[in-house]
Amino acid sequence: MQLKLTALIDTKSTPVVLRSEIIASFLYNCKMNVLKLDKQHTWHPYNSLPSRTKILAVKETYAQTIVLEDGSELVDAMSSWWSAIHGYNHPVLLQALQEQSQIMPHVMFGGLTHKPAVELCKKLADLSGLPSVFLADSGSVSVEVALKTAILYQKARGKNKNRFIALHNSYHGDTLGCMGVCDKKNSMHSLYADYLPNNIFCDVAELGQTIEKYKDEVAGVIVEPIVQGAGGMKIHDPKYLQIARELCTKYDIPLIADEIATGFGHTGKMWGCDHAGITPDIMVVGKALTGGMLTMAAMMSSKNISDTISNSQIGVIMHGPTFMGNPLAASVANASIDLLLSSPWEQRVRQIELLFQKGLEELKAHPLVADVRNIGAIGVVELKEASYAQAIQDHCVKNGVWIRPFGKLVYSIVAYTISKSELSKIILSIKEAIASIK
Ligand SMILES: Cc1ncc(COP(=O)(O)O)c(C=O)c1O
Repeated sequence: MQLKLTALIDTKSTPVVLRSEIIASFLYNCKMNVLKLDKQHTWHPYNSLPSRTKILAVKETYAQTIVLEDGSELVDAMSSWWSAIHGYNHPVLLQALQEQSQIMPHVMFGGLTHKPAVELCKKLADLSGLPSVFLADSGSVSVEVALKTAILYQKARGKNKNRFIALHNSYHGDTLGCMGVCDKKNSMHSLYADYLPNNIFCDVAELGQTIEKYKDEVAGVIVEPIVQGAGGMKIHDPKYLQIARELCTKYDIPLIADEIATGFGHTGKMWGCDHAGITPDIMVVGKALTGGMLTMAAMMSSKNISDTISNSQIGVIMHGPTFMGNPLAASVANASIDLLLSSPWEQRVRQIELLFQKGLEELKAHPLVADVRNIGAIGVVELKEASYAQAIQDHCVKNGVWIRPFGKLVYSIVAYTISKSELSKIILSIKEAIASIK
């Protein structure tokens, strides 16, 4: 197959985008059994090899739809893990990708710079109010950079403070530094316990007193603003952010807002922090940054933090991903941000919020349901037991809806471009799936 593929593609003259199209259609035409190969070679997230849960083979995507290999179509209730805010294959993003691929798909960022990256940094600085931007390749990497930056900030001021305060139910990514600030019960901490740092965890209600208690030990405080995502899909009153802001300012401790899931409008405001009217010292974004098309994330910090590190003996951030500032991803991110800002996204997200609220309301009285909550483009049903996830997913897929419950949580985060009928279909499927549980 290698030889035949090479014959098909002239690597010198065929643009990258076209090459991947040729490869994709070649593989498809080979009538390859995707699921069979998947079973033999492919790890899936949070899974065994072969997968111990059902895997569906996807042929293509468009708008709010996932098309499976067998031709069946699913309305997407997940927006690919909070990322595809404009739906799939949006022509504006595709055009940005295509145009950039003709000019410069990638070039190293060490010692070189380019228009897509600097434009993106300027946009992120303006949107966040934090002017110093570090581009990273995934959400987890940007969290690592944020943690390292907070430690460097302390060291630059002559302080050896290396611990962090994080919240119960937190989720900040799967790399080891990130795991160190994830809720212990959600991140298989116990398997890596000997390796992980000794950080401090508390409930949202205890954040103020915890900062007071550990102020002399901690390099930073890290929070998911307003909504805690994968660690529990909890929605909080903004007050804890105001308390954290006040105390972090008082004790000069960087407040890190992980807006990877909440950012770009998911909670109805551009940032989760906007609900509390605060600006953190460090913010990380990812997921919807590229409208879900390519992997890219960013850490933004205050000028005080970047100046303190840059003007100290330390001088530099010792971090440099190979694909940092990738021009394709940066161009798509620029296009995605422009598209978002030029759209009536606030009204759209408000509409979604009202539909989730009205549609899920009746589940509150269901005997299997522990709680129903929603905000912005996010709807959550928490069940009393964790054993129904697969049955609920199967039922929804049979009804033409893609959803991926985990544990007790059945949740949906939708593209802002979703139609009323598509969202109604998602809500109805969730209700019918729960009603079908015996
Ligand atoms: C709040 C939060 N932080 C960090 C991450 C990690 O991002 P990534 O999966 O891009 O590494 C996630 C991913 O779900 C997240 O929800």
